[in-house]
Amino acid sequence: MESFLIKGGVPLHGEVTISGSKNAALPIMAATLLTDEPCVIRGVPHLSDTHFMAEILKSLGAEANFHNGSLAIRAKKIRGYADYELVRKMRGSICVAGPLLARLRQTRISLPGGCVIGARPINLHLKGFEALGAKIKIDGGYVDASAKKLAGSTMFLGGRAGSTVLGTANVMMAATLADGVTVIESAACEPEVVDLANFLNAMGADISGAGSPTLTISGVNELHGAEHEIIPDRIETATFAIAAAATNGEVTIKNCRADHLRAVLDKLGDAGVSIRQSGDNLAVRRGKRLRAVDVTTLPYPGFPTDAQAQMSALLALAPGISIITERIFESRFMHVSELARLGADMEIEGPSAIVKGGRPLSGAPVMASDLRASAALVIGGLAAKGQTQVNRIYHLDRGYERMDVKLRKLGARIRRVEEE
Ligand code: EPZ
Repeated sequence: MESFLIKGGVPLHGEVTISGSKNAALPIMAATLLTDEPCVIRGVPHLSDTHFMAEILKSLGAEANFHNGSLAIRAKKIRGYADYELVRKMRGSICVAGPLLARLRQTRISLPGGCVIGARPINLHLKGFEALGAKIKIDGGYVDASAKKLAGSTMFLGGRAGSTVLGTANVMMAATLADGVTVIESAACEPEVVDLANFLNAMGADISGAGSPTLTISGVNELHGAEHEIIPDRIETATFAIAAAATNGEVTIKNCRADHLRAVLDKLGDAGVSIRQSGDNLAVRRGKRLRAVDVTTLPYPGFPTDAQAQMSALLALAPGISIITERIFESRFMHVSELARLGADMEIEGPSAIVKGGRPLSGAPVMASDLRASAALVIGGLAAKGQTQVNRIYHLDRGYERMDVKLRKLGARIRRVEEE
């Protein structure tokens, strides 16, 4: 397995260009199953998750080929059975269920199962499918969904932690080919849901209200092929902004959408980070000194849970007490014990991590556990004096395109090595 070897203490300087959003790309790739015509998606990041999704589409009978930064997909003839082994390995693949149900009126996919950050149920996805008239059966780790026809209806998709991003995506995709009008109340408002709605409308769907808690989808008979450019990744943007501040550097982040991460930029400003926006670029540098702040993760437009671990690494450096509360997932503090190995002083109290910040960090071997925890450990290693080895970096490769290459261009002393 591969690791990152980091010699920390070097302020990041220079320019970095943000890649396309992983969490927009995955449902948009799934949406191509809704038509037998060819689609071209530009700006799909080269990640293990997007390559995996392409494998899943091929296993369903679609053609999917990357060439010079674009992904051409044609789901001419497809089958409704998504391979257990494939779907089990990546939760994001659950979003092929909605398109398959809409196109074939039946699908069988494996229950995605939980992961280190939480149980990850799909009850709201299934509630939405049933509201459209599907019969749902769970049997042997598989979900069988079938419907003679899909009929639009009004439904409430809010759960214990608020809206569901992929649940909204799945039901919205299924509703595009249903008879009549579907209204999703408590829909997710994330920019990735808006990007998906824009792609579906380019395919001939009739969706309004994307980005608001009330989504209206008027069913159409069929969808046609379309071309689309994926939005920039707001979480990668947040990650590089936080890394710039943590290393006391000065970085210009290019090709980013500041309007997609207002909560993060606002919180970084409170923490003493200076951010200047010009068009789709952000100039980020640490101000005079970092300040402790409290952070609570919420559905969009609140502070994104996917930037919580990275923010924790920064606040370990900010003198004072910061309280970080995770309201979306049950256990998204896997990074805390590993950051402690770098000298961070953090304690978990229920849904919160209490950070006593301000002590300098020093390098140590640490273990990545999930995608965003790995990013937090890289940030910790970049800020720490001495050498840090971040092991099991495959977690990071799921969601960050060539992070080591991008960081080296910013002056970081980081290289990818085989783990001894
Ligand atoms: C998406 O996951 C993202 N993944 C996650 O990013 C992100 O953390 C999450 O949204 C929240 O913003 C992709 O888009 C591929 P949810 P998703 O359904 O859709 C509960 C990353 O790091 N819930 O919005 O699976 C659930 O348990 C990943 O890039 C139900 O109770 O998340 C959680 O507590 C990690 N029932 C909350 O809702 C359901 O049917 C939000 O989950 C569905 C969800």
